[in-house]
Amino acid sequence: MAEDPARAVDTSRANPARIYDYLLGGAHNFEVDRAAGDQMLPTARQTARVNRGFLRRAVRFLAEQGVDQFLDLGSGIPTVGNVHEIARQANPAARVVYVDNEPVAVAYAQQLLADDPQTEMVDADVRDPESVWRSDAVRRLLDQDRPIGVLLAAVLHFVPDADDPAGIVAGYLERTVPGSFLALSHYTADAWQVDQQQNATRAGENYQRNTSTPVVTRSRAELAALVAGLELVPPGITWAQDWRPAADAEDPPATVHDIYALVARRP
Ligand SMILES: C[S@@+](CC[C@H](N)C(=O)[O-])C[C@H]1O[C@@H](n2cnc3c(N)ncnc32)[C@H](O)[C@@H]1O
Repeated sequence: MAEDPARAVDTSRANPARIYDYLLGGAHNFEVDRAAGDQMLPTARQTARVNRGFLRRAVRFLAEQGVDQFLDLGSGIPTVGNVHEIARQANPAARVVYVDNEPVAVAYAQQLLADDPQTEMVDADVRDPESVWRSDAVRRLLDQDRPIGVLLAAVLHFVPDADDPAGIVAGYLERTVPGSFLALSHYTADAWQVDQQQNATRAGENYQRNTSTPVVTRSRAELAALVAGLELVPPGITWAQDWRPAADAEDPPATVHDIYALVARRP
């Protein structure tokens, strides 16, 4: 594939996909990403792990509901324990389409999944549902006449209000059949205390200065509005670590309270 210079990897500015990979202990990041990760709150690693734990439990839950096809939007760099591995533990026939617009994530995933006929990575902007639905991978792997698990894990906080996040959610869910699900996690400042707020503001200012993609925190009420029209699956909107916690010791105890999580069903 010819390289589009506008899409070449920019190693001069940190990027959320690569910072997240660094926080999770991955190898697909550059010095600029590690420096940005180190400037984040000291709890950022825990936040990344907590989010990842929710994603794993949500995919398992959806698989238990019989969902065997997933659209993972803003999937990031596929590291161990990615969605297709989890989904296939429940159902070996599960199919997954990953979507991201970060060149390192896209290139690595395409290489990793090259021999896997049930899984594909699409290079697209999640803010443009139409282009995702039109992609060859979605048309080949996802059957829109059957329930789909739509995943928006730790990605909508990169989408400002001006880009209409509620319209984006609707742009995916409205094209699925009833019985489809949305799993969503999102950064929030709801629990921040005054001193933590000051630290977070400082960390946030460093982050916004050094990265290509600013973060927008949203409140519980704002998240509820994003999924209005869908049925929240109990226990509703919770801290990510509290969403149906696993009985085993897979998830270490968490002290952070900055990621909300929910699973909702299309009625
Ligand atoms: C924090 S990571 C989350 C990865 C994964 N969903 C998870 O929860 O473990 C956020 C991902 O969203 C991607 N992303 C952010 N904005 C995007 C956009 N407009 N279109 C596609 N991907 C986007 C980033 O490149 C990054 O890989």
